[in-house]
Amino acid sequence: MYEYYPLLIVGALIGILATAFIVAYMTVKGRKEAFGFERNLSDRELFKRLLVYAKPHYKAFIVVFALMLVSIAYQVVSPYVVGVIEGIIKTQFELSTLFTTVIIYVGILIVSLVCSYINSIILQKTGQKIVSEIRSDAFKHIESLSQGQLNKIPVGTLVTRVTNDAEAISRMFSNVIVNFVKNIFVIIGVLTAMFILNYELTLLVLCFAPFIATFTLIFRKFSRLAFRKEKECTSDINAFLSENLSGIKITRNFDRLDHKNKQFLEKNKRYKKAVMNTIFVFSVFRPVVYMLYVASVLCLFFVGGKGYLDGATLFGNTISSEIIVSFYMYISEFFDPIQNLAEQFNTLQSALASSEKIFTIMDMKPEIVDEEGAIEVKEVKGEIEFKDVWFAYDDENWVLKGVSFKIAPNETVAFVGPTGSGKTTILSLLCRNYEPQKGTILLDGRDIKTIKISSLRSHFGQMLQDVFLFAGTVRSNLTLRDEFTDEQIYEACSYVNADSLINKLPNGLDEEVKERSNNFSAGERQLLSFARMMLHRPEVLILDEATANIDTETEVLIQDSLEKLMKVGTLLMVAHRLSTIQHSDKIIVLSKGEIAEQGNHFELLEKKGKYYDLYSLQYEKEKLK
Ligand SMILES: Nc1ncnc2c1ncn2[C@@H]1O[C@H](COP(=O)(O)OP(=O)(O)OP(=O)(O)O)[C@@H](O)[C@H]1O
Ligand SMILES: [Mg+2]
Repeated sequence: MYEYYPLLIVGALIGILATAFIVAYMTVKGRKEAFGFERNLSDRELFKRLLVYAKPHYKAFIVVFALMLVSIAYQVVSPYVVGVIEGIIKTQFELSTLFTTVIIYVGILIVSLVCSYINSIILQKTGQKIVSEIRSDAFKHIESLSQGQLNKIPVGTLVTRVTNDAEAISRMFSNVIVNFVKNIFVIIGVLTAMFILNYELTLLVLCFAPFIATFTLIFRKFSRLAFRKEKECTSDINAFLSENLSGIKITRNFDRLDHKNKQFLEKNKRYKKAVMNTIFVFSVFRPVVYMLYVASVLCLFFVGGKGYLDGATLFGNTISSEIIVSFYMYISEFFDPIQNLAEQFNTLQSALASSEKIFTIMDMKPEIVDEEGAIEVKEVKGEIEFKDVWFAYDDENWVLKGVSFKIAPNETVAFVGPTGSGKTTILSLLCRNYEPQKGTILLDGRDIKTIKISSLRSHFGQMLQDVFLFAGTVRSNLTLRDEFTDEQIYEACSYVNADSLINKLPNGLDEEVKERSNNFSAGERQLLSFARMMLHRPEVLILDEATANIDTETEVLIQDSLEKLMKVGTLLMVAHRLSTIQHSDKIIVLSKGEIAEQGNHFELLEKKGKYYDLYSLQYEKEKLK
């Protein structure tokens, strides 16, 4: 009996440890762990959808699984071969036999290493291919969403979907799934080999299995909690960063840098703590599994060694030194995949959560799509009509309330009215960035819904209130990747008097436009965007506050080119400065989403209504200057 004291001591230690872990588990049992893992789609459904992307690459996966079998075979067979080598050394030692066996072992090892190498290359490539397809589908889909839908999702979230979440899926394909399968096969293979070799010792090793299972389950709970905290802190810090970097000018101007630094420090600390927590969970789990491994090896040496020395075993079978050597290696082959499985399970869960998030975006039906039978329009005269149009950005907060007007081809129409009266909204509806809830919008007498969206937009040239330039060059911003010759570009630029700006730039058209176009003033950006619109020569021109940031001198020049353009197409413009629009054929005065009055400059002045009030106010101001 005394002989088995060491075993009892090991058992007692593991028992105490298990109890401690179970108590710790009980304390966190109720805590929500779903964050970042919560899902509405089932695993099966997600796998089915991911499979659609993986399917075209099935050949690569077949090769991978075939190669994987080789490396599994190595893991299962190599301990046995090492055992045989031990037997040779001990008994019928012959250099040539030893040499042959070692060569066989090295051969298997090399083949297995080469297979693993090829495997990981194929997997990484395939994983990246699959994910780049998912990424471009996601991007294409995001582009197809309407402005209203996009407004509801923060930009940071969309970026995370296309980058971080897609990357999580790539890890799943290139690493997790295959290794998951491999580990399960290795465990089964190693157990089978062990059973064949010596089932008593196998049973001894299996005594540790319930403990491994318990520790693994507890580890999963703790690691999920840790991951959840980490994800929370990551998105918190990302949101803070993106918002504050965009608004850094304001922070600086209002001298809030210290305050913001403090806030960031706080978030940074929380993030650090969360990461440390994850590291702690892993740093406990890994040594615990290692301890179980060492304990099982010790038990093997104790029971096996004793049996070997006594010439008998626990259950009456003889144990050879070869078996002890083989088992020593098998135990490690057995523990490694178990530890990996526990760790990979979390990666798998997080990848599935990521894929659900991507699919949720991809499942959003674009609100504004081409209707069935929508047509291409080649020639546009430029007659525009709004018929009792009602529109709200959300629910029933009507921004436009029964707006009706008609613009004849080649007419120039200006929209005026106080801030928030709906001017920009009218222009957005015309380009189908949003869909009105009631009423119809007609282009040349045809409902714009019956025209293909891309065709409709190709006839409009817009210059928006908030000018956006892409990072790139001046040229790429003007042409937007369409083909134009330099002459055409210069012609368009000189039309809007942007040529002096281009000539001033050291690199001319090839001047770099930095991200957020910080290296151009607001007025310069407007000039460039004006040139961009001219270059594409649309039939209908839409200018929203096109001259707001341009000095009076340039405005006069633009006014001049505008007058030339008025003859080319229909022109819709919004301007707060009434002097810009005096020469319009028609002025539509908006008030709180309704048309208050319309007519030309002189008619409206005669009416002595809202326009007259606005005009007198501006006129008085100008005089005071
Ligand atoms: N994306 C949006 N989501 C919700 N409400 C919006 C959105 N865009 C505009 N609005 C609201 O719609 C109303 C009309 O806005 P719009 O931009 O058409 O005004 P505007 O006449 O162009 O004003 P401004 O002269 O300041 O440019 C405003 O009250 C505004 O708050
Ligand atoms: Mg506006």
